[in-house]
Amino acid sequence: MADNVFKARLEPSGREFSLTAGDSVLNCALRQRILLQYGCRNGRCSSCKYFLIDGEVDFGKTSPYCLTDNEKDEGWALLCQARALSDLVIRDQDISDRDDAAIITPQDYTAKVAAVDRLSAALWRLQLDLEHPIRFYPGQYIEVEAPGRPGNWRCYSIASSPATPNRIELVIKRIAGGGFSDQIDRLVRGFELAIRGPYGMSYLRTCDRPVLLVATGSGIAPLLSMLRFCAAENPDRTFQFYYGARHRSDLIFVDEIHQLEARMSRLSFNPALSAPVAGDEWHGAVGRVTQILQREVLDASPFDAYICGQPEMCESVSTLLLAKGIPENRIFRDDFFAAA
Ligand SMILES: Cc1cc2nc3c(=O)[nH]c(=O)nc-3n(C[C@H](O)[C@H](O)[C@H](O)COP(=O)(O)OP(=O)(O)OC[C@H]3O[C@@H](n4cnc5c(N)ncnc54)[C@H](O)[C@@H]3O)c2cc1C
Ligand code: FES
Repeated sequence: MADNVFKARLEPSGREFSLTAGDSVLNCALRQRILLQYGCRNGRCSSCKYFLIDGEVDFGKTSPYCLTDNEKDEGWALLCQARALSDLVIRDQDISDRDDAAIITPQDYTAKVAAVDRLSAALWRLQLDLEHPIRFYPGQYIEVEAPGRPGNWRCYSIASSPATPNRIELVIKRIAGGGFSDQIDRLVRGFELAIRGPYGMSYLRTCDRPVLLVATGSGIAPLLSMLRFCAAENPDRTFQFYYGARHRSDLIFVDEIHQLEARMSRLSFNPALSAPVAGDEWHGAVGRVTQILQREVLDASPFDAYICGQPEMCESVSTLLLAKGIPENRIFRDDFFAAA
């Protein structure tokens, strides 16, 4: 087992945890059930930007858009990338207004491929069997190590419900040349994958506020987990689900969501196509999800919003909903950033 070499103290809360040589400050905290704010775990989203009151770190791989050299000089660090070179004193963020649940400690698992099937031109479903059940909240993600590329981990949101902890389902967009996603059709039944998790703070909060779900493409995965879970646990909760795709054939899980609508009296599903073609015979909404939301959501203030998919879409939907009155602390985003 790795040595605990340094200590971190969060101020002013006084929370303390130990730091392991070579591991990120965030990983060390999560393993010890110390909740820090974070998102992508890849140095791309800035959610884990904290101020170092004292101590030295190796800043790791960070996007210059998320952490500038000036910010590093001032004492800011991305804790998902930073590795301690001394004891640290870190200024704590106040996240008490985000209804956070207790951390589920991330663990390592070996998963076996149970099934791989193609859902659309670009989207694939990967089902994995786990020998040991994984606990997670609906909306969280795992990391998968790319076969043949040790140490290359990719994040994927879990689409299945926590009610089936031995069989998880992922929705993966295939990207030409992608280190993991482009291998998807070569993953045969029984193939072993290393996974770890759960991670992520964009999980469904257990209150009764109405929920706005917004996704495009594979961003449907964590939202599907929430709906599948709530269909059994809280079928009367209000959900308005906006799902965008280019063509009819890119809209996945539509039949299942209509079945969920029949079980969940207050679920309204609003698919939209941005570029329908004649063969689509599409009679639903046309436009980008931002345009549909602009038209249809007059007042966003009552909602909790979960927005998942490409970072540009997440950003524009967040901006729109903020302008329509949603408080910032009730927007939960899963930006699907590529690994740094
Ligand atoms: C929190 C989180 C959750 C995520 N959940 C999902 C999920 O549920 N489903 C899913 O499909 N993805 C998800 N992603 C994205 C996923 O982790 C990978 O980044 C993605 O699958 C690409 O990995 P790769 O190994 O195939 O490609 P890489 O080897 O990482 O990249 C290869 C090349 O493709 C480019 N690239 C990467 N992504 C894209 C893209 N979307 N469009 C165009 N070019 C791209 C890269 O910049 C690079 O040049 C998530 C990301 C995060 C941070
Ligand atoms: S979690 Fe660290 S930059 Fe996204």
